[in-house]
Amino acid sequence: MQIAYTVEDAKRITRAWKKEGQTIGLVPTMGYLHEGHASLIKKARENNDKVVVSVFLNPIQFAPNEDLDSYPRDFDHDCALAEEMGADLVFHPEPSEMYKNHETYVNMGLLTESMDGLARPIHFRGVCTVLTKLFNIMQPDNAYFGQKDAQQLAIVKKMVFDLNFDVKITGCPIVREDDGLAKSSRNTYLSPEERAAAPVLSRSIAEGQRVIKAGMASADLVAQMMKVLDSEPLADTEYVKVVDALTMQPVETIDRPVLVAMAVHVGPTRLIDNFSWEPED
Ligand code: PAJ
Repeated sequence: MQIAYTVEDAKRITRAWKKEGQTIGLVPTMGYLHEGHASLIKKARENNDKVVVSVFLNPIQFAPNEDLDSYPRDFDHDCALAEEMGADLVFHPEPSEMYKNHETYVNMGLLTESMDGLARPIHFRGVCTVLTKLFNIMQPDNAYFGQKDAQQLAIVKKMVFDLNFDVKITGCPIVREDDGLAKSSRNTYLSPEERAAAPVLSRSIAEGQRVIKAGMASADLVAQMMKVLDSEPLADTEYVKVVDALTMQPVETIDRPVLVAMAVHVGPTRLIDNFSWEPED
């Protein structure tokens, strides 16, 4: 497995592969890789000649009050896991390499104006900008994202469509701990008490999946899910929303494919979870 630290090296390696007619699968990450990331790399390995994993803690998707400085890092472990899963190249640039005198940003409207976009106003601008750069640098045929970040996945698909990128976006299922908690690099922030409380998110998701049905009012579904969340004193719910699966805008009646998503603070840690649902014809 090769490691590239500069844009020039990453381009040189991936352009040589393209010239040989090899297909490239890209898995963008911010590092501190876990089984959720590993599942994306595995999927990329199955469907491409070459697999690139980017490990880049992207500063421009964090607001000044957020956790950029405390975000966990372990590049040696990331490389070991990427190699074990069959990656051919890890791209690990410094922020100064990616953002030299940087002035250009990719902004999106509607889809970024709900849920995580409200709580984190510059977040998706940072995500779209770095992914645009990674797609241009690597020119992947395929790129893999987790349903764990469902709003991000919808935004990436829309950006690729709107900007005519030649890359197919594949969404992969949420990988969970045995007790249901969605795997996340941020789970390391949880104290033992908070860790014990955190599965309340997935219990609320399970309750939502149990009761959701076509024609149901979103407010009734949210109320059922909130009951579960409110039963946990350490959990402070930021939102539970039912949104249109494509536009990410709130829907009142569940009569089309929807995303049911939540952000919940457990102690100082902000956790997210979701499920997708569509009515049968
Ligand atoms: P990061 O949080 O490192 O996540 C990288 C990818 O792993 C994302 O597509 C995310 O949805 C996926 N992922 C994380 N936890 C998962 C889980 N439990 N199951 C399945 N997939 C999971 O998301 C980002 O980085 C950044 O915003 C990025 C896209 C790299 C842009 O900087």
